[in-house]
Formats: sequence, structure tokens, C-alpha cells
Amino acid sequence: MTEENHSEATPETEKGTGDLFNTAAGWVLFAAGLGLGLSIIAGKMFHGDDPQRPETMGYPIAGVVAEGGEAEMTMAEALNLMPQEELVAAGERVFAKCSACHTIEQGGANGVGPNLYGIMGAPIGGVAGYSYSSAMASFGGSWGWDEMNPWLANPRRYIDGTKMGFAGLSSIEDRAAVAAYMNSFGSNLPIPDFTADETDEAGAEAEDEALEEGAAEAEAEATEAAELEEAGA
Ligand code: HEC
Repeated sequence: MTEENHSEATPETEKGTGDLFNTAAGWVLFAAGLGLGLSIIAGKMFHGDDPQRPETMGYPIAGVVAEGGEAEMTMAEALNLMPQEELVAAGERVFAKCSACHTIEQGGANGVGPNLYGIMGAPIGGVAGYSYSSAMASFGGSWGWDEMNPWLANPRRYIDGTKMGFAGLSSIEDRAAVAAYMNSFGSNLPIPDFTADETDEAGAEAEDEALEEGAAEAEAEATEAAELEEAGA
């Protein structure tokens, strides 16, 4: 965009003012360009378009060592902390947080959330007559212990786009208890076995076996190599 081009387009009589106008317009454009350029540079410098993620995200995953160096117990362990009747009773108390939006009795009405009778083991997002978010309707799978656990810990993280307006239960004991409570209403999924000593032993055995296997393999390789060498000599 040059001065010359602009003055050609301007009628002769208005040449003077036209030039002046073009010069002014040129400066305005220049200033706008400069502003844009600066904002791009500033954006690059301060990562305005790339919000920083927090260094630690979310809740600890069961079985993974948590920050304090303590492993969070697994759902199986949490489900076996006390006799089932006690766990279910504890779950009933936790369910007070849910009952504003959910009924649990057979034939209970759908409210803000769907009726939860028989929900353990049922397909995710499958209660008849309830209008789910598309995120939950299309999620797939069914509600086992290992689906219910992360869902209740942080619903929005587990099913991105859910309309369940509940922050989550931070304690795995609470999640296990309320899941066991729901399980007692028309579901009866088997409670997973858990014995601390057994898992430790099983783990140790598996390790021993792996070590033995590794040693045997190394031996076999060594003999093979020796044989090849002999054959080559
Ligand atoms: C503020 C209301 C609200 C509270 C409190 C709430 N929920 Fe929900 N819940 C919902 C809504 C709404 C949905 C449907 C979500 C969707 O469609 O995305 C839902 C869905 C669910 C589902 C999935 C049901 C299905 O058919 O697959 C389960 C399970 C569930 N909630 C359990 C709980 C439990 C357990 C608690 C308490 C610890 C709880 N909810 C607390 C509103 C709530």
C-alpha cells in the first residue's frame, strides 16, 4: 500500500486533503499493526494462550503411591474393612449426601438424578425414563466396583460433561461404603476378596517365579550361544 497508489485513486481536486487523509489512515494502520505485533509477542512471552496446568492433578489413583509416600487402599481393601452389614450401615449415612438428587428404593422416582435401585452391575446411563447428559448416555460399560470408585471420587473427571452436580467423595472408605449400600438395593454384586497377607504373598510368589524364569532363560541363551560357537569353530 503506497502513497502513490492512493493519490491516483483520489480525484484531482481533492488531492491535497486526500493525501493528508491517506497519511493519517496509514499511521492508524501502522499503529494497529504495531499493537497486534506487540500483543503477539506478549502472548508468546507470557503464554497467555497456554494456561498452566497445576503440578499435581486430581485424586490419587487406588494402588498408586500417594504424595505422602502412603499408598491409598484399593476398593477391594476398603470393601473388606468391616463386616458387610456395618459397611452398608455406614453407606446409608454417606447416601444422605446423595438423597437430595437420588432415590434408591425399588420403583423410586427419578429426581434431579436417576433412581439408583439396582444400579451396581447395571449399564451406565441406562435408567428408563431418565434424561441423561449426552456424556453419560454415550459413555458405555456398566457399574462395577472399579467404575463406581473413580466416578464417586470425581464425577466430572470420570465422565467429562456429566450433569451430576456433585464434587465427589474424597475418602475411599466413604466411596466403598456408599457403593456397598447401593449394592444392597437390588444388585448384590459379589464383594471382591481382599486379604492383605494373601496379596503380599501372591506378589512375592509371582516375583520369585519371574526371577526363576529369567534365570532359566539366561541359561538357555548361554548354552545356545556356546553351541553356536562350537558349530562355527
Ligand atoms: C446435585 C444432585 C446430585 C447429587 C448430590 C448426586 N447426584 Fe448422582 N447424579 C445426578 C445426576 C444429574 C446424574 C445424571 C448425570 C448425567 O446424566 O450426566 C447422576 C448420576 C448418577 C449415577 C449414574 C446413574 C446411571 O444411571 O448410570 C450414579 C451411580 C450416581 N449419580 C450416584 C450418586 C451418589 C452415590 C451420590 C452421593 C454420593 C450422588 N450421585 C449425588 C445428580 C446428583
